[in-house]
Amino acid sequence: MTDDTRRLFEPVAFGDLPLPNRIVMAPMTRNRAGPDNVPGPLTATYYAQRASAGLIVTEATQVSPQGQSYPATPGLHGQDQVEGWRAVVDAVHAAGGRIVAQLCHGGRISHPTFQPGGARPVAPSAIAPAGHIYGPDWSKRAYEVPVALDRVGIEAIVRDFATAAANARAAGFDGIEIHAGNGYLVDQFLRDGSNRRDDAYGGPPERRARFLAEVVEAIADRVGGARLGVRFSPWNGYNDMADSAPERLFPIAAKSVAPFGLAYVHVVEPVGTAPSIGRRIADAAATKLIVNGGYDGETAAVAVGSGDADAVAFAKPFIANPDLPARIAAGRPFAEADKATIYGGGARGYTDYPGDDGA
Ligand SMILES: Cc1cc2nc3c(=O)[nH]c(=O)nc-3n(C[C@H](O)[C@H](O)[C@H](O)COP(=O)(O)O)c2cc1C
Repeated sequence: MTDDTRRLFEPVAFGDLPLPNRIVMAPMTRNRAGPDNVPGPLTATYYAQRASAGLIVTEATQVSPQGQSYPATPGLHGQDQVEGWRAVVDAVHAAGGRIVAQLCHGGRISHPTFQPGGARPVAPSAIAPAGHIYGPDWSKRAYEVPVALDRVGIEAIVRDFATAAANARAAGFDGIEIHAGNGYLVDQFLRDGSNRRDDAYGGPPERRARFLAEVVEAIADRVGGARLGVRFSPWNGYNDMADSAPERLFPIAAKSVAPFGLAYVHVVEPVGTAPSIGRRIADAAATKLIVNGGYDGETAAVAVGSGDADAVAFAKPFIANPDLPARIAAGRPFAEADKATIYGGGARGYTDYPGDDGA
């Protein structure tokens, strides 16, 4: 093992979250929640199999029925969902792991077929994303023009985030990650391609960051900031996202949440991005940095060994390699995931990937 690789296995404290190593399982939507968007026993098995990660971040979990984007994604707004997650968290803890809930509101990345009363989805501005989405029955549907949120609607969503965070703690989660990336609602407020508001929530970066800051403040009030992380994806055009000056916006957004003493920021920035802004974002938020995007064992070791990152998150590699940290430690190759079983279905392609020792 190289010195850099050894560093990946050194413990680190992210606020009140002590991590035994710096290999994080990145959030991944797998569309296997049961009726009423309750995670089931298979999901408990899936995450428990991956408990050797320093930290597991769950798949995006909607904070309200209005926040749902895709079929069979779990929620954290109802008591039955809290109970379902409690079984998942207990299984991960029993296997020696730590797990935080990624809380998400999809905003315009949704469809009336998911919305209470068949309403149109909500967003900062009435701008439909290009492309299409899948309805609850997986049928392909065009995006509809979302309804621009008014003040009352914004306040309700901020409260939904805080309630879902309290629910996450009640379910036993070690912490919470706010999904502020990949074109979902918080990101829609941040970037000027989707936010054309001229009120207190739009205009210059400081005002576009206001919704994020209100969500962070509301969650910190309920559960504290030291178990709270925020995920950004400054360069990601996914879900038809764009911003005129991401290198300026994201450090400003991060600075707006510095007063809340976050445990970490999680920045999706493909390995090799130059100039990188991950560390600038973490410094602006006065917290630790998890990087993510196309890393393998060697590039992750260099990122942590050089001090460019405090931890590295892996998404796709964790699908087919439940024992990813052991493989990285031993320098063994990663198994490839079967693309046909990534989204939806049952145990196949979910809980049946063996560890290297066949376990
Ligand atoms: C199947 C799949 C589902 C994903 N779901 C989420 C999600 O729910 N929340 C999120 O923040 N990112 C999600 N992502 C993005 C990943 O967390 C990650 O940023 C991306 O895959 C790049 O990391 P990687 O190269 O290690 O896979 C998903 C990615 C994949 C492949």
